[in-house]
Amino acid sequence: MEKHIIITGASRGIGYEAAVILAGRGCKVTAIARSEIKLKKLHQTNPGLISVLSLDITQPGSIQDISEYLGKNRINIDGLIHNAGILVNKPFSDLTDEDWQLQLDVNLMGPVRLTRDLLPHFSEGAHILNISSMGGFQGSEKFPGLSGYSASKGALTILTECLAAELSEKMIAVNCLCLGAVQTEMVEQAFPGIKAPVQPKEMGTYLADFILNGHQFYNGKILPVALSNPT
Ligand SMILES: NC(=O)c1ccc[n+]([C@@H]2O[C@H](COP(=O)([O-])OP(=O)(O)OC[C@H]3O[C@@H](n4cnc5c(N)ncnc54)[C@H](OP(=O)(O)O)[C@@H]3O)[C@@H](O)[C@H]2O)c1
Repeated sequence: MEKHIIITGASRGIGYEAAVILAGRGCKVTAIARSEIKLKKLHQTNPGLISVLSLDITQPGSIQDISEYLGKNRINIDGLIHNAGILVNKPFSDLTDEDWQLQLDVNLMGPVRLTRDLLPHFSEGAHILNISSMGGFQGSEKFPGLSGYSASKGALTILTECLAAELSEKMIAVNCLCLGAVQTEMVEQAFPGIKAPVQPKEMGTYLADFILNGHQFYNGKILPVALSNPT
């Protein structure tokens, strides 16, 4: 039977590519992001296997909508990729409370609420994959301007170890990939002119492989996916 994978932040970048690849491998995919137009384009790449939900994961009502959608369609989750993310590049002294709150809401509380509220829908043997950053990896060299982003990703990284311990009795594995630089809108906006060593399709392929197979070899692991320190 085909696996059902949910991926957030699938309207562009790494998440979009991972969704296309997963569907290409015969998985059913529920793709989530805010941009309805971009999600429609994703749906059209494989209408039989990719369903899209246009939602803001920071809104508590959105999680309720996802839960109802899963219940109505009798979907059991085999994989959940917490890929949606946001980055505000500002010096620490300029970061406002709103900047901090936004990054914590999307990068940490989104995955927290989604995981907690969707637990009844998981299959035995399911895999949760948190997409963090080298900024959220202990001991990596840090970029100036990314304190809020890195701290929010660092919290997501550690949450991985906590959840792996608590969810093992439900037979759910939880892992975290800390990515180095990938050539997407996020890094291009934060670092204009950057030439990242990895393209979104390459990283999307890696995520697709990992959500399907990584939990046969890893659980509760925080893995850097970077060619150098920090990118
Ligand atoms: N690119 C890199 O170099 C790099 C490095 C390390 C880690 N990462 C991480 O990898 C993940 C993917 O990054 P990317 O580079 O592909 O970023 P991206 O191109 O900026 O895409 C981010 C995705 O997140 C979605 N998103 C943002 N806020 C959302 C919200 N409130 N609700 C629902 N969806 C939301 C966006 O869709 P909408 O705007 O349509 O909602 C978009 O689909 C992120 O978690 C990022 O932190 C990236």
